[in-house]
Amino acid sequence: MTLGRAFPYGKLIFFATGNMHKFNEARRVLAEYNISVAMVRVKTIEIQDDDIESIAEASAIDAARKINLPVIVEDAGLFIDALNGFPGPYSSYVYRKIGLDGILKLLEGIENRRARFKSVVAFSDTDGSVKYFRGFVEGRITRVARGYGGFGFDPIFEPDEQPGKTFGEMTIEEKNKISHRARALREFAKWYRDQFSP
Ligand code: IMP
Repeated sequence: MTLGRAFPYGKLIFFATGNMHKFNEARRVLAEYNISVAMVRVKTIEIQDDDIESIAEASAIDAARKINLPVIVEDAGLFIDALNGFPGPYSSYVYRKIGLDGILKLLEGIENRRARFKSVVAFSDTDGSVKYFRGFVEGRITRVARGYGGFGFDPIFEPDEQPGKTFGEMTIEEKNKISHRARALREFAKWYRDQFSP
């Protein structure tokens, strides 16, 4: 990829998402690298697959083709050990169908609360080439939901790196220090910044 010479937009990246929370998290993380981000609301295909890499890849290629610009998409999931990694790639569907209470019910009486969020940021150029960047955060599922910040499963996820607080009880800045998405975005940002180096 020869982004440095061929890419006319400077350090700007288009982020295909309809999720304002993801966009706000990304905006702050990418600003640390002097990268501006524009939110593009383009409906992309969401394939069903067991790994979030494939889902992110298909969606990034589709987004770049539709808007004819280099673009990132981000796909994430919550993987709960006691449920053999469920809901994982089905997190969005499961969140919509059973929500936080549904997950807490599934874990009722279960001592092992270990879980992790995984995020994949997929960058696609208009020629269809794709790169991935991954991020993880380890933690546990709480017994009750706590906090009103963030989105999705944030109120029931307590990261190991900040015990005693769920993502839902954190500010965006606090969440961004350790979150799966921020980590994947930082990996992307380091690579993207290098594309512009002389
Ligand atoms: P998506 O398919 O990447 O939009 O994410 C799948 C689902 O996982 C979302 O609908 C959320 O419920 C959940 N999710 C993803 N990232 C996060 C996060 O940072 N916090 C809480 N829930 C998340």
